[in-house]
Amino acid sequence: MALSSPSRRPVQWLLSALAMSSVLSVAHGQYYNIDTPDAIRESARTLAYDMMLFYQGNKTGEIPGILPGPPTEHKGDYYWWEGGAMMGTYVDYWFLTRDPSYNHVITEGMLHQVGPNADYMPPNHTASLGNDDQGFWGMSAMLAAENKFPNPPDDQPQWLALAQAVFHTQAAPDRHDNTCNGGLRWQVPPTNAGYNYKNTIANACFFNLGARLARYTENQTYAEWASKTFDWLWSVGYIDNENWKVYDGGHVEHNCTDINKAQFSYNAALLLQGSAFMYNYTNGEEVWKSRVDNLLKGVLRDFFPNNIAFEMPCEGRKGGCTADMLSFKGYVHRWLAVVTKLVPYTAETILPVLRTSTEAAVRQCTGGETGRRCGFYWSEGVYVDPAVDKTSGAGEAMNVLAAVSSLLIEEADPPATKHNGLSKGDPNAGSRSRGPTEPLAPITAGDRAGASILTLLILGGFIGTWGWMSIGD
Ligand SMILES: *[C@@H]1O[C@H](CO)[C@@H](O)[C@H](O)[C@H]1NC(C)=O
Ligand SMILES: *[C@@H]1O[C@H](CO)[C@@H](O)[C@H](O)[C@H]1NC(C)=O
Ligand SMILES: *[C@@H]1O[C@H](CO)[C@@H](O)[C@H](O)[C@H]1NC(C)=O
Ligand SMILES: *[C@@H]1O[C@H](CO)[C@@H](O)[C@H](O)[C@H]1NC(C)=O
Ligand SMILES: *[C@@H]1O[C@H](CO)[C@@H](O)[C@H](O)[C@H]1NC(C)=O
Repeated sequence: MALSSPSRRPVQWLLSALAMSSVLSVAHGQYYNIDTPDAIRESARTLAYDMMLFYQGNKTGEIPGILPGPPTEHKGDYYWWEGGAMMGTYVDYWFLTRDPSYNHVITEGMLHQVGPNADYMPPNHTASLGNDDQGFWGMSAMLAAENKFPNPPDDQPQWLALAQAVFHTQAAPDRHDNTCNGGLRWQVPPTNAGYNYKNTIANACFFNLGARLARYTENQTYAEWASKTFDWLWSVGYIDNENWKVYDGGHVEHNCTDINKAQFSYNAALLLQGSAFMYNYTNGEEVWKSRVDNLLKGVLRDFFPNNIAFEMPCEGRKGGCTADMLSFKGYVHRWLAVVTKLVPYTAETILPVLRTSTEAAVRQCTGGETGRRCGFYWSEGVYVDPAVDKTSGAGEAMNVLAAVSSLLIEEADPPATKHNGLSKGDPNAGSRSRGPTEPLAPITAGDRAGASILTLLILGGFIGTWGWMSIGD
């Protein structure tokens, strides 16, 4: 397919949208101050409060752990995985600010979604069960162990064991095959659309979790899986061997050579953070140092133009980013912050970028009746009214909360390990799990079309407009 030029129209659209919204928002000045640690904590506190207004899970009759959704059932904008990502954002919020206000809500949500085998495969969400979806919940459990988040009651699954369960189910033989010489598929149930797609995010979650479990438990088996997974991503060319760009994925019927070259920030940042854990675990091995250095260079080059977070494949085009994509900036900020703890020499490069980016983030939080609602367009520092472009939802609020909280990383402890951690693991966690082959109800076409991270990208109208993406089928 011919390479179209995706940059011209979007810029024109953005400029007119910004012009309009700046007229609408002149009444509000900047609300958030992030000049001192106290001011940062105070700003984070308000952002955490406002973000919680999107969460209904602790109200009577609502389901703990999830944001309103899924869209396929017309229950809201958010898929199951994003609840898991939100839990992680608040585990970091508590860790960085020491404000425990939401710990009970987060603990309840994280435990409610573990499923019957305590491995984050709840039958309710089989239709959207990608390895990446399960992986995001697993990474939030891992973070709770690393951050020494208060343990669940003894008769409940523990954080480290939950992370292990997710990893073990993904390392089990039924998730692996020889198509494309290895790698995890995107979806878990063979009946889900996207089962024939082997993508970066599914493998990056598995890699990241393996690297972290290796460092935490010092069990070399995890490190071997992590290395093998990174090597596969490299050999199949999802990580560009020349310039370290990180692409989205390919299909098994094409031996994964039909690479969709969309670059999403979370893919690259997740590989970077996992490499930083491996660097630290191996006490600075050269191969991991080189991976950290090159991925960091790539992340800053591609996703921080002018040192401000920018979601390259979709930002700047009205409606271009799905609800999923609108939440990536926050993860990238949080993961980069942790890299500075594990690879200390990166701090002088990363911290100034996180600060500049966060300054831009809060500058545009001038919307809504409160005059402090946050949107998505950080680079221009101007809030875009939702009437112009629907970009002031939960992901957008979570991004700014994450960015502001992460400014406190310097005074925080490095991620814990078994030597100073508090969470109890279980080497057998996940080993008794049944495959998720029996969905509660037949999967409808609607479920298939919308069910998981980036489904809209893969199956939806995105392809039509962005003809340069080489989607195989
Ligand atoms: C839900 O949690 C928020 C934040 O802690 C709290 O303000 C609210 O009262 C809670 N609602 C219920 C019904 O417990
Ligand atoms: C599964 O869905 C049902 C129906 O919406 C709900 O009552 C239940 O709480 C859900 N279970 C979990 C673990 O989310
Ligand atoms: C290390 O992890 C592997 C995979 O989970 C497990 O089979 C093995 O028993 C673990 N080894 C130790 C010493 O805990
Ligand atoms: C599939 O691609 C891999 C490289 O990723 C290559 O080694 C292998 O030979 C290819 N297999 C087929 C059947 O083309
Ligand atoms: C690993 O992380 C610890 C904790 O932040 C740090 O003190 C140590 O220097 C790191 N190791 C290397 C090789 O940089």
